[in-house]
Amino acid sequence: MEFLVKSGNPEKQRTACIVVGVFEPRRLSVAAEQLDKASDGYISSLTRRGDMEGTSGQTLLLYNIPNTLCDRVLLVGCGKERDFDINQYRKVIATATMTLNDGGAMEAVYYLPELNIRGRDIPWKICQAVLSVKNALYTYNETKSNPSQLRRPLRKIILSIPSRRELSTCEQMLEAGQAISAGSDLAKTLANLPGNICTPTYLAEEAKKLSSQFENLAVQILEESDMEKLGMGALLSVSRGSEEPAKLIVLDYTGTDKSVKPVALVGKGLTFDAGGISLKPAAAMDEMKYDMCGAASVLGTVLACAQLKLPINLKAVIPSSENLPDGKANKPGDIVTSMLGLTIEILNTDAEGRLILCDALTYVEQFEPSVVIDIATLTGACVVALGKQAHGLLSNHNPLAHDLLNAGKTIGDRAWELPLWEEYQEQLKSNFADVANIGGRDAGTITAACFLSRFTKKMRWAHLDIAGTAWTSGHQKGATGRPVALLTQFLLDRVYNNKH
Ligand code: BES
Ligand code: MN
Ligand code: ZN
Repeated sequence: MEFLVKSGNPEKQRTACIVVGVFEPRRLSVAAEQLDKASDGYISSLTRRGDMEGTSGQTLLLYNIPNTLCDRVLLVGCGKERDFDINQYRKVIATATMTLNDGGAMEAVYYLPELNIRGRDIPWKICQAVLSVKNALYTYNETKSNPSQLRRPLRKIILSIPSRRELSTCEQMLEAGQAISAGSDLAKTLANLPGNICTPTYLAEEAKKLSSQFENLAVQILEESDMEKLGMGALLSVSRGSEEPAKLIVLDYTGTDKSVKPVALVGKGLTFDAGGISLKPAAAMDEMKYDMCGAASVLGTVLACAQLKLPINLKAVIPSSENLPDGKANKPGDIVTSMLGLTIEILNTDAEGRLILCDALTYVEQFEPSVVIDIATLTGACVVALGKQAHGLLSNHNPLAHDLLNAGKTIGDRAWELPLWEEYQEQLKSNFADVANIGGRDAGTITAACFLSRFTKKMRWAHLDIAGTAWTSGHQKGATGRPVALLTQFLLDRVYNNKH
């Protein structure tokens, strides 16, 4: 998809389609009003007859409107003007895009960024428009033999803005939106791939491919023998029950002076989590192919960051493995020694994410990151607590938590903080090892983070539990690409604020 920003009157646009909003009840937006004037009331005559009430999601495609230069005008219902918010804006953009993609117009000028949303400026609306368009058009075709093909897909979208003055900021936001979308799309596709294709080895190959696309992106793949030497007993114990070799993927993005401390991202890359000997129930177990969504979001964020040439340094580390039942697999009660030296009693082999993450977190310590953020589909408890809307956020450093929460609010990919109080640590006591890998039924998301916190004491660290937000189930099953947007916005904010 090609995107452009432009400013100008709708009736003067020579294009296949003009898209304008109509609020409920039958109230024309500024651009719709302009078209109405130019055409001597043609649009208002239609709304008066009841063909477009303006309810959210409604569409009406019109042809050959008098005194205009465009082939078509698409009216899109925006709901009540007073309720118009980020969700409505995204929905209106998505609706217009899907309607046009199924029709004959291959190009369109959207007069939608001019619609008012309290507290949001035009450049922000440009970025959101791109995210919304790309999200609406995302399709997964990788494993279909006959993917549906459109005869006349939408190819070019021109986003119209009220004033030329904002052209250059809007163009920057257009780039940001496109980079974030590219990252989200990559994350979605990797996540949607089945476990028999997207193995740890496959993820490692994808990381190599990614690195070959950018000169300042280096990759290193650590094999099980390397992990052995490093003493990654926790990570290796999870992988032992699988025929697929584990990989530790390390990506190095150098966007600024080498002396600047990197931001470290660590993504859980369980390409399939059957639970191991503590086997999961059969229902919806297929969705455990999504247990590598943390890893996918890290790769997506690296792509976005490299595409935007952000002047930061980034260290992305992805521990990747399968978790399967097997004669060699972890057994409840087994005790393993982590790279940090802490011994872990594995009381439930299904709490494997924290086992591979703890060694990856210890591994990043040597890079002295300014901050480290891990992203993981870590606990079912997080889905119970926060549902599909917010990522769980836990951190040992308040300013970092604050920055992540704000980035999420800005870009519309929100997290919600849960407490990481000392009192919860008690639940991880073991009679036989330094720490147990589960903390009982209560506060499952928090005790999982408590476990990780044992390995991040020397760093400014935050943990995003994306178990509820990384994919949607049921009829519309599919990865969401979250939290690529939050993470990229967080990095963008650091650039704006001159924090590296
Ligand atoms: N990958 C799962 C968490 C998960 C479950 C994410 C369902 C999304 C949906 C993780 O490895 C896991 O199995 N966690 C256990 C931890 C428990 C054994 C303490 C869980 O949440 O049940
Ligand atoms: Mn598990
Ligand atoms: Zn898991």
